[in-house]
Amino acid sequence: MPHVLARIDLAALRSNYNTAKDLAPNSFNFAVIKADAYGHGSVQCARALHQADGFAVATIEEAVQLRQHDIDKPVLVLSRFCQPDEVKDVQNFNLMPVIHSHYQLDILISKHNSRQPINAWLKVDTGMNRLGMNAGEFLSMLNRIENSGCVNAVGLMTHLACADETDNEFTAVQLKNFHKLAIKTNLPLSIANSAGIIAWPDTRKHWNRPGLMLYGVSPLSPNKTTGSNSPIDKAMDKKLQPVMRLVSRLISIRTLKRGEGIGYGQTFVADEDINVGIVACGYADGYPRHAGTGTPILICDKPSRLLGRVSMDTLAVDLTPVSDATVGSPVLLWGSSRLSVKEIAGHAGTIAYELLTSVSNRVPRQYID
Ligand SMILES: Cc1ncc(COP(=O)(O)O)c(C=O)c1O
Repeated sequence: MPHVLARIDLAALRSNYNTAKDLAPNSFNFAVIKADAYGHGSVQCARALHQADGFAVATIEEAVQLRQHDIDKPVLVLSRFCQPDEVKDVQNFNLMPVIHSHYQLDILISKHNSRQPINAWLKVDTGMNRLGMNAGEFLSMLNRIENSGCVNAVGLMTHLACADETDNEFTAVQLKNFHKLAIKTNLPLSIANSAGIIAWPDTRKHWNRPGLMLYGVSPLSPNKTTGSNSPIDKAMDKKLQPVMRLVSRLISIRTLKRGEGIGYGQTFVADEDINVGIVACGYADGYPRHAGTGTPILICDKPSRLLGRVSMDTLAVDLTPVSDATVGSPVLLWGSSRLSVKEIAGHAGTIAYELLTSVSNRVPRQYID
């Protein structure tokens, strides 16, 4: 086995997709597999998701990669169709760009050289203030598209800013803003990301765009005032199956004497003699450097904790609860019902999205189907 490995459970991926489908049985789904399927491998995930109605990626390159691996379902390019030299790929590979700004239509009109109009989704801004047209821009876009002859608007979408917070009323505001624009067309609609699908039934439209939940993580945030997770979040965490298990091994064992520190900065100092293990995984593999002493980890399937700072290639763990640990003993960094990537993200002051997409290229992915 390599020193550190990401085991990808494709059956779990399919089960999570089915959960998204069960929550919104009347919607189609673009499975969001941008950023290499959140670190899980976009081609492998696309191939495994037989049931998906289409895929969504962020860039033209990501979309072309799918086509070059014979993925022939609809592919939506969510944000980064921005340059004239990308039009030929849109045409040749039959991609569906999202048009969020007028300059993208200018590019399509100036470079279009096929008899086939390009199918595109239109994106409106309903309050996130990131990408998307405002009401005035949208109406003039519809006009321009009708006159251009080279673009078919095939859907209308927006993106939710706060759907992970189940008590945040901003989602209702965005929905209202979206409906005001949607009645001006009879295009198919798309709003819901994972959080929308799980927690906001009114956002489930013709097409949903589940991302994080496919990888087995509930996107919902704890309540801001109580700090506790909502019942729906707990239920989802039980239902969704982790897809990535990040595993490694112990490559050294030593005893730290009382008063000795370990690692860079010596930020952990033993207050009694303690056995420590060195794990062959560090921040260059994608384990978060900001996870400090106390971050949970499983050694030989037993719960333990990190000690001191994470290094580039290694991290240190407390072997007190694992007296039988030896060099070579297995380590689980995240990816089981007992140790979720979300929990590790919490200890590192970040989110599961960042950890999953940061698992580096030097970590081989092993696919289990
Ligand atoms: C436009 C858009 N739709 C859908 C998604 C999927 O979101 P999630 O992973 O929270 O389900 C994303 C992810 O960032 C996105 O940018």
